[in-house]
Amino acid sequence: MTALTLSTAAAPGLRADAIVVGVAKGAKSPVVAPGAEAVDQAYDGKLAGILETLGATGTEGELTKVPAPAGFKAPLVVAVGLGEKPAKNAAHDTEALRKAAGVAARTLGGAKKAAFALPVADAAAVSAIAEGVLLGAYSFDRYKENGNGKGAKAGNGKAPLAEAALLGAKPRDKEHKAALTRATAVSEELNRARDLINTPPNDLNPESFAAIAQAAGKEHGIKVQVLDEKALAKGGYGGILGVGVGSAAGPRLVKLSYSHAKAKKHLAFVGKGITYDSGGISLKPAGHNETMKCDMSGAAAVFAAVVAAARLGLEVNVTGWLALAENMPSGSATRPGDVLHMYSGKTVEVLNTDAEGRLVLADALWAASQEKPDAIVDVATLTGAMVLALGSRTFGIMANDDAFRGTIHTLAEEVGEPAWPMPLPDHLRKGMDSPTADIANMGERMGGGLVAGLFLKEFIGDGITWAHLDIAGPAFNEGGPFGYTPKGGTGTAVRTLVRLAEQTADGAQG
Ligand code: BES
Ligand code: MN
Ligand code: ZN
Repeated sequence: MTALTLSTAAAPGLRADAIVVGVAKGAKSPVVAPGAEAVDQAYDGKLAGILETLGATGTEGELTKVPAPAGFKAPLVVAVGLGEKPAKNAAHDTEALRKAAGVAARTLGGAKKAAFALPVADAAAVSAIAEGVLLGAYSFDRYKENGNGKGAKAGNGKAPLAEAALLGAKPRDKEHKAALTRATAVSEELNRARDLINTPPNDLNPESFAAIAQAAGKEHGIKVQVLDEKALAKGGYGGILGVGVGSAAGPRLVKLSYSHAKAKKHLAFVGKGITYDSGGISLKPAGHNETMKCDMSGAAAVFAAVVAAARLGLEVNVTGWLALAENMPSGSATRPGDVLHMYSGKTVEVLNTDAEGRLVLADALWAASQEKPDAIVDVATLTGAMVLALGSRTFGIMANDDAFRGTIHTLAEEVGEPAWPMPLPDHLRKGMDSPTADIANMGERMGGGLVAGLFLKEFIGDGITWAHLDIAGPAFNEGGPFGYTPKGGTGTAVRTLVRLAEQTADGAQG
């Protein structure tokens, strides 16, 4: 990953491949953003005019390259759009900074060192720029010819930016340093979640995912318990087993327990971890299964969030549950019509084996409930219906508590993860009535994302606050990269979960 430093160096003498500056949309013309004063002076105050001549407007996502002014050690100035110029005395929006830093870092793939002279009003800006750089520079090249894990042939054919200096941030400032440390831990773990999502399903299966979790647990002082198929059968986890039974790679339930001696609150995060979703006997048609390695994105997000919480030493207990299985058709696979005996004691008639996520989650949610945490949040690439409803960049939030749903929504927006509240209308429950079992795993087609949410709700212990994030849209980016989001696995929901853990820790300290 890109090495980040806070630097007070002056731009002209900096030895770097490029200096990144911000440009905002002014009333009529683009304006150079604070932080780049020294650069602008070296152009005799004409940088905004030069950029305008080159067609720059300051729009978000825009990138303009200019030869550096005479006397500069760095050869190139890269101007990135920050969107509307903020009102007088107001700071630039942190998400605009994160995106701009991400665009620049991605474009500078192949470079050794870049200096970022973006507006640093406070520690929140340091954090946003650092995250933008670390997340934007991400590449997944392990499977490319000569790929050496160091980005030899990354997405753009170049190694990720090796080094970034954040100018204007203060290396001695406690808050700035803390912001950098936090951004590094969160971004590294988020990038690891992306790696897991991008790893092909012949290499990432429930067993190998569990082994990775065990290794990370050892490294970061997290207790890790793994239930394999034998233990799952003994424990009565009929949902996880029913989904995994068709695959040669058996299912696992992984429990990651991070605890802090001073913790007053306990959060449980539950992730859908279908390492490949073929649909099972209700097989998906070609055109719908090529990206289904991403169906473990929820488990990857939960894993990353628990490790990040541990690395940050948050004063809160966080338990992560990874419900891992591969959904395959075979002679041993669950059939449409089969009835599963779930861990909660309920029975489920499987009408469609492609509605498998809710089955593995049901067991994990019930297991999480047994510890009576203060809240449970599950994360899942659960339904195509949610993608139809909210598109490919926004996840849906459902909950059994309006205030908690609102809290998650606020935190998600704060960290730059687009999300939107969705309802759980009671009337949709009867569509899942089964003549044979307590409930069927499918209901009305209309509102399919909400139906899935209502199914999960049946497996939450009494009185426990719960929210469900359906990340089927934003988990995997099938389009081109944008902002700090690469093609492929995005790591969505990691930052919302970490923020929730932080807020829960802070709130408990009062
Ligand atoms: N993993 C899919 C949902 C999905 C779709 C994730 C698109 C990412 C992108 C899930 O297991 C699934 O197949 N859901 C079915 C449920 C239906 C059979 C009730 C769906 O949404 O079609
Ligand atoms: Mn499915
Ligand atoms: Zn699935």
